[in-house]
Amino acid sequence: MSKNRVLIFDTTLRDGEQVPGCKLNTNQKIIIAKQLDKLGVDVIEAGFPISSPGDFISVVEISKVVKNAIVCGLTRANKKDIDVAVESLKYAKSPRIHTGIGTSDSHIKYKFNSTQAKIIERAKEAVAYAKKYVEDVEFYAEDAGRTSNEFLAKVCEQVIKSGATVLNIPDTTGYCLPNEYGAKIKYLKENVKGIENVILSCHCHNDLGLATANAIAGVQNGARQIECTINGIGERAGNTSLEEVVMILKQHPYLNLDTRINTKLLYSTSQLVQQSMGMVVQPNKAIVGENAFAHSSGIHQDGVIKNRETYEIINPADVGVTESSIVLTARSGRAALAYRAKNIGYNLTKIELDDLYPQFLKFADRHKEVNDVDLNHLMELNHINKSKIAV
Ligand code: KIV
Ligand code: ZN
Repeated sequence: MSKNRVLIFDTTLRDGEQVPGCKLNTNQKIIIAKQLDKLGVDVIEAGFPISSPGDFISVVEISKVVKNAIVCGLTRANKKDIDVAVESLKYAKSPRIHTGIGTSDSHIKYKFNSTQAKIIERAKEAVAYAKKYVEDVEFYAEDAGRTSNEFLAKVCEQVIKSGATVLNIPDTTGYCLPNEYGAKIKYLKENVKGIENVILSCHCHNDLGLATANAIAGVQNGARQIECTINGIGERAGNTSLEEVVMILKQHPYLNLDTRINTKLLYSTSQLVQQSMGMVVQPNKAIVGENAFAHSSGIHQDGVIKNRETYEIINPADVGVTESSIVLTARSGRAALAYRAKNIGYNLTKIELDDLYPQFLKFADRHKEVNDVDLNHLMELNHINKSKIAV
């Protein structure tokens, strides 16, 4: 694999599915897993097999249908969890166990009532145990974002010795700033023996709206896997959004980092997840929101009609959106009115456009948006026929 490839680890079906009230059944999970495989993700975290019989069955069934991606199951750092995950992954072509433990002072003290030395022992034992069953073992240092870099480096070095192939550095609480998170990855790259033999993974939460920025800072500093979810769904404020990190890397080629995602499937995958979970993204959501390629102010519309690139940095077709939309509102100008009229068959002359525009504005002031039916009605009121000579 090229050293500039960033692996996409999708956790929509595990961390993403932890959204309150958005549980998926096994059939829905299988459909989403197949779509993620088509999309080209490298790893599908299919669930937390010991958490419930339903999650166990979902991991089994997903393992049977996924053709290309690694299928991964989450565990805590204990033998029982790992045994159940191994069993659930038995049909996977490429299985991965994702095991780990909290490493921050707060987790060690309050969650485990333990010590740093004991946490390192448990981490080593879990990785070594998982390694007996699968070659591919990913270790997560939960709350790594609030763990001191020195202790985190010690934990990482020990789990590498026990056989970990991937080290996940989660900012579990979404606390880090991008420069801090990037510096953490850099510190590990420079201070952990054996780090060159494993992949560092970014797993960022969005409590301060920084999940995407942190993941990008991570790969800019040497991480080569991003853990993310479709639409950025997940616990609390969610996880890094898959479509955002993928498009950031694509739109900034000078970063020299790429993924193998088929970006043309991003929009349809987003729609599938929204519909299956009954969770609609906000209209201004980057890449997949309803307004991501909609233009409503006159100045922007005029620019986009002349050349799309004046106000769009992404070609909508690249993410599977048919085209940019010119929304008619009271902020729209003549160019947008002429453009939308032409779309429904009216080539307005300059005189017609000048006559119509004040009426259009009055109508638009009374309504939020002017749709094609309204527009047709306006034309009829003004006795304008279809197929006139173009302006
Ligand atoms: O946010 C987190 O720390 C996690 C781990 C369980 C990987 O989701
Ligand atoms: Zn998480």
